[in-house]
Parts: sequence; structure tokens; C-alpha cells
Amino acid sequence: MTPPATTSRRTFLRAVLAGSGGATLLAVAGCAAAPDTAQGPTRSQEPTPMTPAPSAATGTLLVYFSRPGENSWYGERRVLEVGNTEVLATMIADRVKLDTYRIEAADPYPADYEETVARNVREQDQDARPAIATPLPDVTGYGTVILASPIWNVRPPMIMSTFVESVPLQGKRVLPVTTHAMSGLGRSVDVYTELAAGVTIGKGLAVRGEEVAEAGPDLEVWLREVALLT
Ligand SMILES: Cc1cc2nc3c(=O)[nH]c(=O)nc-3n(C[C@H](O)[C@H](O)[C@H](O)COP(=O)(O)O)c2cc1C
Repeated sequence: MTPPATTSRRTFLRAVLAGSGGATLLAVAGCAAAPDTAQGPTRSQEPTPMTPAPSAATGTLLVYFSRPGENSWYGERRVLEVGNTEVLATMIADRVKLDTYRIEAADPYPADYEETVARNVREQDQDARPAIATPLPDVTGYGTVILASPIWNVRPPMIMSTFVESVPLQGKRVLPVTTHAMSGLGRSVDVYTELAAGVTIGKGLAVRGEEVAEAGPDLEVWLREVALLT
């Protein structure tokens, strides 16, 4: 497997960023398109403690979004039968006793890479909350929620925001996991911190998409660091 040329990776990110108009990276704070439930009760209705009690629940839920189809591959393109994040999610589930929940878009993302980039730019520009097709999980029993996704334009896809605003995560530990071409966790920690009030964001894991199949050792180090593996 030939390592990527640095220039190709830079070119890739420039292309993605140029398509976004740049300003989209700052667009996550607004909640104009958020579902009403995401607004939460007003302070006078139900005061929210500044530091919520940690959840007593001990279970772990692995939530992931992944898109098979044409994707970047060391600066080139490749069609993935199974998305990189789904491969990583399966590797996590093979090592840890947990429940998994796959986020499915009500309007599925295209297999075509450029079309997906364009749709994502639109969704970021609009601070959209793309609808989730699958019934949401009951998160009551989980103290830890792993949020796994690709990085799209240096942050998790907007459908991850839909999820985070649609389930009560307060008091839980959230562990961000990404697969990416070069951006690492991108803005994942900021995005989840902004959207999910009262969660504790734990140490994240970022795996290069092209290298997920070889990520077992790094994955196990991380799982031990976050106390999910002994
Ligand atoms: C619309 C789109 C935007 C992307 N933007 C970035 C990016 O900003 N930074 C990055 O490192 N990778 C980016 N990528 C690459 C993906 O994050 C990477 O290939 C990931 O492993 C894909 O995971 P998946 O197969 O589970 O969807 C982007 C891919 C797509 C389709």
C-alpha cells in the first residue's frame, strides 16, 4: 500500500474546504434548524445543574454513522463496500461488551463522493439536522456513549448533531471516535461539547480511514485508556 503523497492530502482538504466556503466550520453553534426537543426546558421550568451528577448507569452504547460508496483513499478515490467507520465500529464491538446503534439517514447519502461533499456543504451551511430513519435508542442504561463517525469537512457529519440533540445524554461520558483522511478528530470535541449539555467528553480516538483494518493494537490501547478493556 503506497503511503499518500502529502500534497495529495493537502489538495484533498483544500478541495473540501474550498467547497464549503470556509465559514461553515463556524456554523455549528446556531440551533435554528434543531428539533424543538433539543432546546430543552427553560431555566425557570427545570433548573439544570452546572455539573450534573454522573450517570450511575454502567452500560456502554456504541453509536456510529458510516457511509459506504466512493471515498477518498490516499488522495485517490476508492469504492468501499463497507464504510471505514463501520469497520472500526465492528472492531470495537468485537472487543467490548456493548450495544451498538447504527445511524441511518432518512434520505440516504449518495454513493458518489462529490455529490456527498456537495450535500454536506449545504447541510453545514444551513446548520441542518438531517433526519434519522431508524428509531432512536433508549439510552437510560448507558453511562458511556461512544459516538463514531467519519470526519466531513473537519467535523462530524451533521446527522451526528441530529442524534446528539435527540437523545438525553446529560450525565453520561461521551467518547468521540472518528475515521478520517487527515483531520483526526477535527472539531468533534467542540461540536459535541456545544450540543450535548452536561456530558463529560472523554478521550477520543481518531483512525485514518485507509488504516482501520490495521488499527487493532492502537484501538486496544485506547480501549484500555478509557477503561473499556482490562
Ligand atoms: C463529504 C466528505 C467530506 C470529508 N471531509 C474530510 C475532512 O474534512 N477531513 C478528513 O480528514 N477527511 C475527510 N473525509 C474523508 C472521510 O472522513 C474518511 O474517508 C472516513 O474514513 C470515511 O468514513 P466512512 O467510510 O465510515 O464514511 C471526507 C469524506 C467525505 C465523503
